[in-house]
Amino acid sequence: MNRRIGILISGRGSNMMALVERADGYDVALVASDKPDAPGLAWAKSRGIATFALSPKGIGKAGYEAQIDAALREAGVEIIALAGYMRLLSDDFVARWRGRIVNIHPSLLPRYKGLDTHARAIAAGDAVAGCSVHVVTEELDGGAVLGQAEVPIEPGDTPEILAARVLAAEHALYPRVLKEFVANERPNPA
Ligand code: GRF
Repeated sequence: MNRRIGILISGRGSNMMALVERADGYDVALVASDKPDAPGLAWAKSRGIATFALSPKGIGKAGYEAQIDAALREAGVEIIALAGYMRLLSDDFVARWRGRIVNIHPSLLPRYKGLDTHARAIAAGDAVAGCSVHVVTEELDGGAVLGQAEVPIEPGDTPEILAARVLAAEHALYPRVLKEFVANERPNPA
């Protein structure tokens, strides 16, 4: 039986779209965002997918996360996929979903955790860049790597040009790795 996943986004949601369009072994039960005007939310709605939007402004992190958590559980979500979700999840939230949150990061982890990955790879003179899907733990971009894809860094690449090349690789990698992950992950007994 298909597993139910929830996708958290903050922006355009192109990885979320790739996960929806190439869903295999999972159903996207909810797309949620900390940005009510995230373009990806409108796209998900237009595809008939349940959405939930809540800004943390004025609520505080704990209250905000409690409501996201409740929305995910109400939707029957078993596994969370972060897709351009630009907020750090609290240790509490990560603990509640231990081993059941994955993320896509635009670098070949463990290199270039955090932001500005493409500029940093170019500045270092790297010949290859890429992306990683990893398990989310309390350590930023630090959980077990589930899969990676490499792309070349070409002479004259700007961070924007490289980002576009890596993004295309992300769209191919994430659905493939999530399919494997949901097939291997044990159903939640709770
Ligand atoms: C992607 O590069 C992803 O790796 C990073 O944030 C970006 C999100 O893009 N975490 P999108 O919203 O999926 O288009």
